[in-house]
Amino acid sequence: MSTLATEQVERLLSLREMVDECLASHLAAAREQGDGEVVDLAEHVLLSGGKRLRPLLVLLAYQAAGGKHPEDVLPLALAFELIHTATLVHDDMNDEADQRRGRTTVHLLAGSAKAIITGDWLFVQGFGLGGRYDEGVVSIMARSCSDIAVSEFLQLDHIDDLTTSPEDYLDIVRGKTAGPFAAGCQAAALVAGRSAEDAEHFRTFGEELGVAFQLVDDLLDLRGSPDMGKPRGVDVVEGKMTLPLIHALTLSHGAERERLATLLSSFKEADWPELMDLLHRSSSLEYAEVLVDLHLERAGAALQRVGAGPAVPLMLDMLREVGERTR
Ligand code: IPE
Ligand code: IPE
Ligand code: MG
Ligand code: MG
Ligand code: MG
Repeated sequence: MSTLATEQVERLLSLREMVDECLASHLAAAREQGDGEVVDLAEHVLLSGGKRLRPLLVLLAYQAAGGKHPEDVLPLALAFELIHTATLVHDDMNDEADQRRGRTTVHLLAGSAKAIITGDWLFVQGFGLGGRYDEGVVSIMARSCSDIAVSEFLQLDHIDDLTTSPEDYLDIVRGKTAGPFAAGCQAAALVAGRSAEDAEHFRTFGEELGVAFQLVDDLLDLRGSPDMGKPRGVDVVEGKMTLPLIHALTLSHGAERERLATLLSSFKEADWPELMDLLHRSSSLEYAEVLVDLHLERAGAALQRVGAGPAVPLMLDMLREVGERTR
């Protein structure tokens, strides 16, 4: 690894540490105000090793946009992480997941009612911080939350739907994952004082990175990874139509297509080898990987349009991290 690369890794690590410390002090302040058990549950999921991609993107996009006072954008960065964590708490209830960030999920720990309230509390904390910004920034945040809701509904409507198209899949991913990435980058550029037109390029960067990120997440769900902090195969068990499955269903015919449909509709742990074999035959994992590279390339191109700055190499590092991630 070159010296420069080491320096960059250290800068990213120290930014992550700063975000963690700020989140911890936010929780401490809420505890001080008497928020009690809801803070304990929020802390359980918030301070348990998330990658902090969204707040890092906000901080880096602000710097790349020429912003000179990181403290001005810090509440926005924390807001995006708090809101993201809120969606995770609710997502794990809907997806019946038992692990998140390597820990027991909040609903299993404290029951559904308290998990719903913990998620709501995290949302409100996020908007409490993000609500300090101009109307334009607040409406970008609110829009991205609405888009998550719309796309999660769309995803529910496509559960077990073997006719789901790649376009349907991309609509879902643009809303639930790429939207918040895009919103964070766009809002950060506006806070840094860039024009609406420039902020659109930041938005495109975040959006393309977010699509690549979700494609990788869906590949990880199929392949499994020991340090992912969440179990393998939740998507398949839930009947969620991710791109490799959609691709395989489109390309296979006759008995193979029928077998794939049967496997997906009543999936059991023992079916993994056969499912993976069918996906390999249609090169469906490879297809998703090609799309990951394509979206990362588009993100890189959008970044070039926003101009140079000390944060840009770090953002390029993040592109690489997303492409190579195992958790
Ligand atoms: C999980 O996001 C939800 C998805 C959009 C796939 P992350 O993988 O960024 O989760 P944390 O924040 O690192 O735990
Ligand atoms: C999560 O998508 C998206 C949101 C939290 C809105 P997933 O359901 O794929 O995320 P993981 O895999 O549970 O992290
Ligand atoms: Mg989900
Ligand atoms: Mg989930
Ligand atoms: Mg997933």
